[in-house]
Amino acid sequence: MNKVVVITGASSGIGKATSIYLINKGYTVYGLSRSEGDVEGCKYIKCDVTKKEEIEVAFNTIYDEAKRIDVVINNAGIGVSGAIEYATEEELLDIFSVNVFGVVNVCQVAIKYLRETKGKIINIGSVAGPMTIPFQAYYSMTKTSVESLSEALRMELKPFGIKVTTVLPGDTKTNFTKNRKAPKVAADKLYHDRIIRSIRRMEKDEEKGVSPFKVSKVIYKVMKRKNPPVKVVVGFSYKFLVFLKRLFPDRLVNYILYRLYAK
Ligand SMILES: NC(=O)c1ccc[n+]([C@@H]2O[C@H](COP(=O)([O-])OP(=O)(O)OC[C@H]3O[C@@H](n4cnc5c(N)ncnc54)[C@H](OP(=O)(O)O)[C@@H]3O)[C@@H](O)[C@H]2O)c1
Repeated sequence: MNKVVVITGASSGIGKATSIYLINKGYTVYGLSRSEGDVEGCKYIKCDVTKKEEIEVAFNTIYDEAKRIDVVINNAGIGVSGAIEYATEEELLDIFSVNVFGVVNVCQVAIKYLRETKGKIINIGSVAGPMTIPFQAYYSMTKTSVESLSEALRMELKPFGIKVTTVLPGDTKTNFTKNRKAPKVAADKLYHDRIIRSIRRMEKDEEKGVSPFKVSKVIYKVMKRKNPPVKVVVGFSYKFLVFLKRLFPDRLVNYILYRLYAK
């Protein structure tokens, strides 16, 4: 019997690439997102991860049909840019609802199924978690939350044989750049030019980013490991950066990030 994988945010980018990759490896893949994707062989279920009732219906449907769930990949995510001073409460709630509460919702529903298979949870964080990005503060905050959540969950679920890993991609060429929400309140002269420069830099880096299949490959490797790591950064250069961040004094790291994204 094929192993069954559920991926959130499967309609685009990393989720879409991963569904293709895993179908080719022989997995049965269910994709959850608000819009349907177009990958042949992927079983799509419309589901908003901010709505727990929709997640419950989706997981019930999958279990009724496939009789097992082996891996859950929390990949759905959104971005928002802008200065903290001017960001609205709505923006903060929007991004936390998807990137943090969405992951919590899916985990809470999925755990009882994964207990049966001693399955795996793979949460998609970001290098923007350990490397806090100015003018994308809320995004960085959500991704560090994903790491904390995953670490705690890993310990809580250990006696049940469920393994939890965070995968941290760096810049990856997807629709994320296009979908990133611009600030609702236009920043005034105090920030305007800096925000424009910062976002332009981020967008350039993302456009030059790696293929989403590179992330899929890492996710697949984690799935195959008997004892997967607590976290894994995608790509040598990002691994190196995160490693240096641990070695360098905070003041220096903060200054470099300021020069890159906030000057
Ligand atoms: N691209 C990068 O450079 C990069 C780097 C590091 C980490 N990441 C992370 O990788 C993950 C995937 O991003 P991506 O780059 O593939 O972006 P993307 O192309 O914009 O895809 C985002 C996916 O999330 C889904 N989604 C958004 N809100 C949702 C909701 N409320 N309920 C269900 N699904 C929802 C979208 O589907 P619908 O709109 O159809 O719902 C879409 O399938 C995110 O967690 C992101 O933070 C990306």
